[in-house]
This record gives sequence, C-alpha cells and structure tokens, in this order.
Amino acid sequence: MGAENGDCRRSLQDRKPRYAAPRQAPGYRMTAAPPIVRTVAELRAAVAKARGDGLGVGLVPTMGSLHEGHLSLCRLAAQHTPFVVVSIFVNPTQFAPHEDLATYPRDEAADVAKLAATGAVKLVYAPTPAAMYPEGFATSIMPKGVAEGLETDFRPHFFAGVATVVAKLFTQVAPDVAVFGEKDYQQLQVIKQLVRDLDLPIAIVAGETLREPDGLALSSRNAYLDPRARAIAGRLNVIMRSTAASVAQGHDIGLSVKVGHDELRKAGFETVDYLEVRDAATLKPVTDRSRKMRILAAVRIGKTRLIDNMAV
Ligand code: PAF
Repeated sequence: MGAENGDCRRSLQDRKPRYAAPRQAPGYRMTAAPPIVRTVAELRAAVAKARGDGLGVGLVPTMGSLHEGHLSLCRLAAQHTPFVVVSIFVNPTQFAPHEDLATYPRDEAADVAKLAATGAVKLVYAPTPAAMYPEGFATSIMPKGVAEGLETDFRPHFFAGVATVVAKLFTQVAPDVAVFGEKDYQQLQVIKQLVRDLDLPIAIVAGETLREPDGLALSSRNAYLDPRARAIAGRLNVIMRSTAASVAQGHDIGLSVKVGHDELRKAGFETVDYLEVRDAATLKPVTDRSRKMRILAAVRIGKTRLIDNMAV
C-alpha cells in the first residue's frame, strides 16, 4: 500500500506541467498557446525553422495589454503569411520620463491566452529590456518627414523610440510582412517611410481601427478612463466625424477645425493637443484639396491622452 501511495505521488508529480500554462482571459476560448521566446537567438532559431518549412513570416509588433484591435491585426497578418510572430515589448525609449512607462498595463499571461484564442499566432517574442537594449546600446534612428509635427510637437522623443525599436524588431524577425494599426496613423506613415528609406524588404499592411459602439477607438490606454472620463471620451469620434464632414462638404478647413476644437473643449476634454486636417500621405498642411485628406487629433482628459484619426 505504502509503495503504491509512493508510486501514485510520483506519477502525480510527473504529470505536473513544467511551465505555467497561460491563464484563460475572460471571454476568450483557450486553444494551444503559441510558444514564447525571449532572446534574439531563440527567435532567429524559431523563424529559421519556419522558413525551412517553407513558411512566410509575418510580424505584429505590440506593447502588450492586448485588445480586440490587436487581435484583428494578428488575424490580418495570418491572411498574408502562415507564420505570424507577435512581439510584446513595452519599449522604454518611446516614453518620456514624465510619461506612463511604469504604470503602462502589463499582463503577459492574459495576452498570450488571447493570442492563443485567435489561432492565428505561431510565436510570441517577448524580450526583456536588457535583451533589447544591452549595456552599451547607443544607436538611434531619428525619422523626419512624416514624423515632424502633430505627435512630435507634444512627444518629441516618441518617433525616434518607435523607429529604433521597430527597426530592431524588423532585423531580428526579418518578416516578409508587418502589420500596424491605422489607429496610430502618423506612426504607420513613419514605419512606411522607414521601410522605404532603409530599403527593407518588408510589406507594411495597415489594419483598420476597431471602435466601441460610441465610436471610441480601442486602445490599451482606455483602461485608465474612469466612468466620467469614459463618457466624455466617446465624444472625440463624434466631433472628429462632424469636422471631417464639414471639410468634405467644402467648408474652410481652418474654420471647420476651429469649430471642432471648441466642441472638444465644451465636451469636457481639458486639453486639445491638436485637431488637424492634413494631407493623408505627407501629413503636411493641406494645399491641394483634391488629394486624400486625414483628420487627426490628440486630446487629454485628466492623465489620459487619447489619439484618433479618420479619412476626410
Ligand atoms: O504601437 C505600438 O504599440 C508601439 O508603438 C510599437 C509599434 C509596438 C513600437 O513599440
């Protein structure tokens, strides 16, 4: 009997998983979790194996805290390439010292469970800051052109941080295709310019912005909004749409934007960093209204900064 109990205990121990299974995120059906790699060497080995199997490679760069918007980018990537890598890395170099790096929401287990449920992701790359920026790291990419103005007027450090980390991710993963959300429209243009300027053989695919029923664009930072701020936040999209409609109807751009600006303040946004109609490709002020235009905005409620954009 004693020996039997001993055997039983041993066999139960043998059956214990050797790794922590990702927790099931509420509302997401669990399927096999994609493996997680944390070093460039492990990443390259996994990608080389996929390439050896004849698979094309896609990359969806993220900072984690994943929501349906990110998951839609993963599904879109899977339509283009069978081997989809998702990077999860809260990139310190794109945050200024006074920004929310320390409090940025992080829950890797929940993120991996959500990725597993899509069935679209084959590998998660989650490097540590030390692996991404080892001792002595001293090179930075400083984009200009479409990176000038708008976000840069308020977050001057931002696009150098983004361009540098994305260039590193591109050289580490060496994907055929990379998917970015239109929600960060200026960032998307910066990445397209980076790929063009550095002759990187990567197709950049844009994923459309997903929205809450009241129009608020999905964003990891929406988690910061208290109920009052959340109610105000939904007005951003409504006011941007009416400003865009006014411009599309041929009204003066400066006047339409001024009305939109005043409405944003009346709606309860404490600060309007910008509300601008720009050339959709160059992001310069509009000089030719026959070209595609884009309306872009950044506003603040309390400590939360929201950005959004849409076609005019
Ligand atoms: O959009 C983001 O989440 C980040 O800016 C990115 C592209 C992952 C770079 O850190």
